[in-house]
Amino acid sequence: MRLLVTGGAGFIGANFVHDAVCEHDVTVLDALTYAGSRESLAPVENKIRLVEGDITDAELVGKLIAETDAVVHFAAETHVDNSLSGPEPFLNANVIGTFTILEAVRAHNVRLHHISTDEVYGDLELNSPQRFTESTPYNPSSPYSSTKAAADMLVRAWVRSYGVRATISNCSNNYGPYQHVEKFIPRQITNVLTGRRPKLYGAGANVRDWIHVSDHNSAVRRILADGQIGRTYLIGAGGERDNLTVMRTILRLMDRDPEDFDHVTDRVGHDLRYAIDATMLRDELGWSPTHTDFEDGLRATIDWYRANESWWAPLKDAVEAGYAGRNQ
Ligand code: NAD
Ligand code: DAU
Repeated sequence: MRLLVTGGAGFIGANFVHDAVCEHDVTVLDALTYAGSRESLAPVENKIRLVEGDITDAELVGKLIAETDAVVHFAAETHVDNSLSGPEPFLNANVIGTFTILEAVRAHNVRLHHISTDEVYGDLELNSPQRFTESTPYNPSSPYSSTKAAADMLVRAWVRSYGVRATISNCSNNYGPYQHVEKFIPRQITNVLTGRRPKLYGAGANVRDWIHVSDHNSAVRRILADGQIGRTYLIGAGGERDNLTVMRTILRLMDRDPEDFDHVTDRVGHDLRYAIDATMLRDELGWSPTHTDFEDGLRATIDWYRANESWWAPLKDAVEAGYAGRNQ
């Protein structure tokens, strides 16, 4: 199959492309923003076509979609803290960008899988048995999650109104190789590796539902192959942990004192807890995660950052300068 992968030079997209080249003829469309890099695609550079361009460029998007059998749409602005300090790029990439993709797949009758997030559902109480399901009402908190929610709504409307052949997945927090050092886990690992003190927002009671990026992508492959058009699938691996626990685990795995970190200014509107019920995906499509030992996955991720300093070191100082400006 000819596959167009938007955002394929970002964290999850690049990991997806590394595997997809074994089965598909892959074109990547990526604007190579601060979050995307050619280096993330170096292992497969001779097996793909990388087009540097913006998903809001209707002419370019139309041309590429006319030449493809399916689109996997990862491209987005993705960092909540950035959306709080400057929301406009999120409107552009996440809403107008998704609209542009939808109009092109409509014009050329091309299959679309739209990648979304559990953050569209808002947050859950701490210590409650509740988890998000496909029927949980949307209740986004941040500029990031509200623009992802808007994008999901556009996809649903284009399926119903125009018969666009699309599926949606909403996944929980990913970790693994090639994640930008602005994000929680790589930030703390690279803080330790550069002699900085790790930074925890507030008391660290907030809970995230961690999934290894390979498991997210294996679910996306299952949905792309056998998902029902018009359906939303939730992707999660039962990996709930509070941030304080994750911080202490990282420090222990890196042979540091587990209390050797700073508490910094909390994120405004900070979502308390995310948790996914992936029963439908498991029952309907027979998917299950393989990286079920979080500590093993974290250890391998730490090893990856140790071995790939040339990939992240050029990004680190600017990211930390930005955080320092916000007392984070
Ligand atoms: P990322 O920030 O690492 O990568 C995003 C990629 O999109 C980058 O390569 C960037 O250059 C590209 N991009 C941004 N704007 C673009 C534009 N206008 N045109 C073309 N390319 C553009 O993001 P990620 O963490 O890999 O997330 C990928 C997708 O998965 C996003 O849609 C995100 O909402 C979703 N998601 C992420 C997570 C997570 O934990 N990281 C969890 C669930 C869902
Ligand atoms: O749930 C899926 C979402 O997960 C994706 O849609 C987003 O694109 C992705 O960025 C992620 O969002 P979060 O806001 O949950 O991830 P982040 O890595 O920014 O933060 C994880 C938690 O750690 C969150 O509760 C804030 C906290 N945190 C974050 C940073 C960067 C810290 O305590 N210290 C930090 O330095």
